[in-house]
Amino acid sequence: MAVLGAGLMGHGIAQVTAQAAKYEVYLCDIKQEFIDNGMRTVKESLLRYLKKGELTAAEVDQILSRIHPVLDAKTAITDADLIIEAVPENLETKKTVLAEADKLAKPQACIVSNTSSISITKLASATQRPDKFAGMHFFNPPQLMKLVEIVRGEKTSDETVKLIFETAKKMNKEPIIVKKDVAGFVVNRLLVPTLNEATFLLSEGMASPEDIDKAAKLGLNWPMGPLTLLDYIGVDTVLSICEEMQRELGPKYAPSSLLREMVEAGRLGRKTGKGIYDWKKNKKMPAHEIS
Ligand code: 3HC
Repeated sequence: MAVLGAGLMGHGIAQVTAQAAKYEVYLCDIKQEFIDNGMRTVKESLLRYLKKGELTAAEVDQILSRIHPVLDAKTAITDADLIIEAVPENLETKKTVLAEADKLAKPQACIVSNTSSISITKLASATQRPDKFAGMHFFNPPQLMKLVEIVRGEKTSDETVKLIFETAKKMNKEPIIVKKDVAGFVVNRLLVPTLNEATFLLSEGMASPEDIDKAAKLGLNWPMGPLTLLDYIGVDTVLSICEEMQRELGPKYAPSSLLREMVEAGRLGRKTGKGIYDWKKNKKMPAHEIS
């Protein structure tokens, strides 16, 4: 397999590919530092399993030996049977990467996108193999979240859906099939309006960030509150999903001004050290001023 993009999702997808499915996987990105960060995070995650006795040191070494970090897309893609695109959530970036992958891939290989909201049919049009193209949407952190959404584009074949379904099972995931290619698919249609609404609650001064999060944790039994989750997913990612849903589905999905202001200010969440919360040394700190 090949995973294109070693960021928040890509490194975790490569890890479950090598860890649960035991496939050889190339992890490809455009800068050495992105690859180094991705591999560092994979190692940190594997160390957690080692410390708990869920993996032996030898197993950790074997898993790492199955992940091949590379800068060169040709090396990553040429022999792959399945190529998973996990680059930033931007239509043009994804189309460029997918068109290149399509040229380099074997004719029989399938290509999938981990997009959170962009139309699979639109992305498939960047390739010459729309029948062998689908959405394969993982959840953050991919090492722990069991769900994978398999999204059919207009021309995705039944064979491709079956292959992706079986691959997800081998990765120890629970797949669902999303029958219609509509922005947000199933999970983000449910989740993103709630995260957006949490930022409206905050802007309206309804409660502090900690109390909004506490409300969802104790009142809804969420494992983490919506504002913490927003910082985990990335404010820019949530904004772009809102915008895509607004474009496709209408004004009820319009993002809050707070989401926009945070992205303009570079407050993207945990990955930039500050979002709704301060994340000094990856530890959540009480919130400061929200503009
Ligand atoms: N690798 C391996 N193990 C990990 C890990 C990682 N990256 N992160 C955490 N763990 C392990 C910990 O070691 C711990 O193990 P233990 O219970 O055996 O001691 C266990 O997972 C729980 O971790 P923590 O105690 O640190 O924290 P939590 O109990 O809060 O669990 C969580 C972490 C699973 C992330 C939980 O908070 C959660 O489920 N949060 C919600 C996540 C969510 O909703 N994700 C979906 C986002 S939407 C999305 O991704 C779609 C996109 O399109 C936007």
